[in-house]
Amino acid sequence: MTFFSSATKSIPIGNDMPQHIAVIMDGNGRWARKRFLPRVAGHKRGIGVVLELVKACVDHNIGYLTLFAFSSENWRRPADEVSFLMNLFIQGLKREVAKLHENNIKLVLIGDRSRFNAELVTQIEISERLTANNTGLTLSIAANYGGRWDILQAVNKMHIASPELAGRFDEDHLAPYLAMHYAPEPDLFIRTGGEKRISNFMLWQLAYAELYFTDTLWPDFDETAFNLALASYQNRERRFGRTSEQLSEPVSDA
Ligand code: IPE
Ligand code: IPE
Ligand code: MG
Repeated sequence: MTFFSSATKSIPIGNDMPQHIAVIMDGNGRWARKRFLPRVAGHKRGIGVVLELVKACVDHNIGYLTLFAFSSENWRRPADEVSFLMNLFIQGLKREVAKLHENNIKLVLIGDRSRFNAELVTQIEISERLTANNTGLTLSIAANYGGRWDILQAVNKMHIASPELAGRFDEDHLAPYLAMHYAPEPDLFIRTGGEKRISNFMLWQLAYAELYFTDTLWPDFDETAFNLALASYQNRERRFGRTSEQLSEPVSDA
């Protein structure tokens, strides 16, 4: 297993293109309401946008795309919306996985699967197995995922594996147990739908991500909107604790 370096432990090498993009796809309900449609019409429409973004990431040679599809708090929604989303998830996987596979995309689900029904768990397993050896874009879907859940499950696993280290655990001990141990930390975080919050997404991994918020609702997030996010990223100065002046000096990991 390869482990990626941590932005708090060593200074990442700068790149014009983000290597990993993490997205909170928000605003489906409002998109539908604006059109006097039921909220779920927005979710349905949102799937097409996911596929377009995946394609754009492949075209841009981006290594990792992580999408927040369902938070650990989304169970609080009306039961019929929750079951619609679960169904959409199953149908979406069934319909799209062959195409993802053809495009050398590796699909991974992050989140607590224990609350999903058997059909969904099976479909996730089939999709992950089919695409496991693909070497192109890694597409991670966060479902029943929460940043706090992730940190806590990792801490518990780490503690069980190495109880003798209690009181001396560091980042390197924790890293292999985090849900996204297989990916570098996100460089760019995008949230559509206008809210300016993290909503319990990748709390640990977003430590040094560039944050981009847009009022565009998820079903309207097209290639032009994505290019605006990339352009914003390319205008950021990523200092990782250093001063501006230091950026032209060779990287040293003090
Ligand atoms: C995001 O859109 C999709 C999920 C959370 C599953 P919303 O459903 O949150 O849409 P708004 O925020 O109500 O418009
Ligand atoms: C965050 O969106 C979760 C997903 C996009 C899956 P929400 O719409 O649920 O977030 P809050 O509750 O408004 O913060
Ligand atoms: Mg929302």
